[in-house]
Amino acid sequence: MKKQSLIIDCDPGVDDALGLFLAFGSPGLDLLAVTTVGGNVPGVITARNARIMRQLAGREDVPVFAGADRPLVREPVGAGEFHGEGGIGDMIPFEPRLGNAEGSAAQAIVDLVMARPAGSVALAVMGPMTNLALAMRLEPKLAAHLGPVSVMGGARSEGGNITASAEFNIYADPDAAAEVFASGCEMVVFGLDATHQVRATEARIAAIEALDGESARAAGGLLRFSQRVEREIVGWDAGPLHDPCTVAWLLKPALFELKPCRIAVETVSDLTRGHTAVEFRVDAATARHRWAVTADGQGVFDRITESLERLP
Ligand code: BDR
Ligand code: CA
Repeated sequence: MKKQSLIIDCDPGVDDALGLFLAFGSPGLDLLAVTTVGGNVPGVITARNARIMRQLAGREDVPVFAGADRPLVREPVGAGEFHGEGGIGDMIPFEPRLGNAEGSAAQAIVDLVMARPAGSVALAVMGPMTNLALAMRLEPKLAAHLGPVSVMGGARSEGGNITASAEFNIYADPDAAAEVFASGCEMVVFGLDATHQVRATEARIAAIEALDGESARAAGGLLRFSQRVEREIVGWDAGPLHDPCTVAWLLKPALFELKPCRIAVETVSDLTRGHTAVEFRVDAATARHRWAVTADGQGVFDRITESLERLP
């Protein structure tokens, strides 16, 4: 079977790290690059964290390009309370053997996508959409040339997780998200309505902890950290695992039910900044966006566990 070419844009971040392990251990993916953005923690840290996971996974063949350190126009907002000051829970960070690849994340996205056939490169976006918006500004033909853009972001039925109406990734850079949603590229969007159905239960964490290898050990530790902070801050016994949904869908679309829609982002009101207005009254044949309404949580965890089994 032909491998799916993929670029991951992320801000690791505990759940981003799990998404990276999922992709690093998936033989069905041709992972062209990981690009990083400031989000959960500052950009210099998210790039280092991506390189830490890459090294643990034995995937130094995948370049890591550092990207935007701040949103297009607003001040950065972090989520260190959910990810730890260093972005990777209570894992002890280290400086990886290899550094960042030369060049910016936005330019790398343009170069990698435009050098390949139209529609062939998918993008999984796990953080604020700053890098993708910048890439689209650099190359106006990018939106039409991209394959599916699989996004973790937004909230509808569930309400927000950073304000009453907004989810963190969209809230952090609403202007970038608004540009990308309006660009005409094909987008599959995993907002909180879907990711809140993917819970890190005790049994699922234990299944990962039972595996051998440094990657699985790191993943287990990250999930335990998340379990603790979700209990302390939100009061949830089994916290949601957001970002891996973007990769899990590429591996097995049947894990999710998607509804055609048109999504726009609030950029004017401070009260509802970053709200995703998800309009289902669209022509399904021409709609460019799809919104995930259900997720098979066990299926997502099974994919992650299988990937970790393959990694060192
Ligand atoms: C999103 O926000 C970040 O804190 C997580 O990494 C995830 O991408 C969830 O709202
Ligand atoms: Ca993230």
